[in-house]
Amino acid sequence: MTNNGAKQELYHPTDEVKQNAFVKDDQAVREASYADPVKFWEDRANELLDWYEPWDKAMDNSNAPFYKWFVGAKTNIIHNAIDRHLDTQRKNKLAFIWIAEDGHAVSMSYFRLNREVSKFANVLKSMGVKKGDTVTIYMGRTLEQVIAMLATTKIGAIHSVVYGGFSTEALAERIEDARSRVLVTQDGSFHRGKVVNLKEIANEAVRRSGHVEHVVTLRRTGHEVEMVEGRDFWWHELMNLPVANGSCETEVMDAEDPLFILYTSGTTGKPKGVLHTHGGYQVQVATTLQYVFDLNEQDRWWCAADPGWITGHSYIVYGPLILGATSVIYEGAPDYPYPDRWWRIVEEYGVTVLYTAPTAIRGLMRFGEAWVKRHDTSSLRLLGTVGEPINPEAWRWYHEVVGGGRCPIMDTWWQTETGGFMITPMPTTPLKPGSGTKPFAGVIADVVDEEGNPVKPGEEGYLVLQHPWPGMLRTVWGDPERYRQQYWSTFEKQGWYTAGDSARKDDDGYFWIIGRIDDVIKVSGYRLGTAEIESALVAHKAVAEAAVIGVPDEVKGNVIHAFVILTQGIAQPEEAELKQFVRDEIGPIAVPAHIEFVEALPKTRSGKIMRRVLRATAMGEDPGDMSTLAD
Ligand code: PRX
Repeated sequence: MTNNGAKQELYHPTDEVKQNAFVKDDQAVREASYADPVKFWEDRANELLDWYEPWDKAMDNSNAPFYKWFVGAKTNIIHNAIDRHLDTQRKNKLAFIWIAEDGHAVSMSYFRLNREVSKFANVLKSMGVKKGDTVTIYMGRTLEQVIAMLATTKIGAIHSVVYGGFSTEALAERIEDARSRVLVTQDGSFHRGKVVNLKEIANEAVRRSGHVEHVVTLRRTGHEVEMVEGRDFWWHELMNLPVANGSCETEVMDAEDPLFILYTSGTTGKPKGVLHTHGGYQVQVATTLQYVFDLNEQDRWWCAADPGWITGHSYIVYGPLILGATSVIYEGAPDYPYPDRWWRIVEEYGVTVLYTAPTAIRGLMRFGEAWVKRHDTSSLRLLGTVGEPINPEAWRWYHEVVGGGRCPIMDTWWQTETGGFMITPMPTTPLKPGSGTKPFAGVIADVVDEEGNPVKPGEEGYLVLQHPWPGMLRTVWGDPERYRQQYWSTFEKQGWYTAGDSARKDDDGYFWIIGRIDDVIKVSGYRLGTAEIESALVAHKAVAEAAVIGVPDEVKGNVIHAFVILTQGIAQPEEAELKQFVRDEIGPIAVPAHIEFVEALPKTRSGKIMRRVLRATAMGEDPGDMSTLAD
């Protein structure tokens, strides 16, 4: 790629990138699709996927905002992700190359994957799991986590994956909300050579939540764990039972049947179970991955996220499998045992496309470019980022040092709720560092003011999605009113979806995401609700009231700063004790970087905490207009 030296950096794709691109003229494809998004998605549904039975209607808006896609069609995403490959040469192709933190690797062909998934599907069935039931999966970054997800889907059940970095209370709440009778977990996971005791957390969460009747535990670390007689079973023992044979029919589903729940943070303390369905989601993930990352039979795709987040669901598990790709999954930390770990993996496994988060790039950048230069990373042809705005400095480092100046960077904006990429370059798009460029084909987005008028170029406004898309969430699990309220009430008259992000567009119509405008903080790309952290803090006996905010951090994007009012008559605890308390309740990702003990919190007369004032205080800035402050 070349920088044309214009005032605002613009990076044009090289001829080689253009020649290889699946979409040769992305601007033309985008524009053609904007006129009729439904037709665009319908064409992709025909082109990229098989269906047991076709749909009667591509989109049904009769009960907005409860939109439906591919109504009447029969499908199962597993058919497209696994079953159909077994009749082709892909049967012998690697679906996954899994690399353990200690360096040993396991390769799994599509044929073998189908056998393992079928076996575990039979195990789940033998435990009474049926179509429509939920299965909670709380594991580390193992192949078995992926197998557990796929097996659940194969039999028509609904998976709810809880990220292995969450702790007891967070897990218990999610099990409870999903009403799962079966939990799949592992003894522990490895992190920088140390064991994270997942089973202990799982056992405590099961005790707190009720509901769970059976726990399947994968042996990964081999340390001693408590197994409850009659409730707990080892993965390897179940997989050796005669009932766990390698053939299992894939359940025929309606396009609109639930596929998975994935909990994410919002404005209240209770996490939202974002619900996705079989039909539309598969179209969204397959199309976006094909158009944006150009996957072909020779590629070795590495999405370095955790399968436990939406990025992993869409672009480690379902998207790549539907396209018949070979994916790399790495279990451990990027800088373990040395800061060249990732670059060693790129070299050893010939990774061609790498997709990660800005925080990981910034973290690795700190170690210096010598760690990258030690390895042959010339196999890379495309790069990607997701999760938060990427600062131009990190963009340039990624582009120059990692990508050798030849790999375009796909800065993909999307959310747990959107299922797949929404604003994103394609390989032929001229790039500006820090911008996700333009809405994907079939996606109608804009930046508007409070009344819904488009703002002028350069001005900040609300990022809205103005037309339904197939991978959209269908509801909040068990709480349709919250779905309507959270996403569709701000621009109810217009029928638009509000993302919760602020953004601006420039003179070329490029989108620039500024950040969240609700009470959500992005820490190292993880999405955390202020209310969740606050309620964990006030659960401590010494804390009467708490307010948390995000403050900018060079590597993590944001870190958490907590303001705490102490309970009268109780001695002030050590800061470390409160931090440990939050870690035990929610997990290490939610631990505040700073805790400040205060006498009062700034509130409006209606009692709402003025986070703007707190932010200014934390950063030593002028808080601005204080006229609405109660006291
Ligand atoms: O604020 C935006 C930010 O991440 C939020 C969605 O978080 P989550 O549901 O956890 O999904 C992350 C992975 C898809 C968005 O509302 N975000 C995501 N991608 C970008 C981004 N901000 C700027 N640029 C991005 N590329």
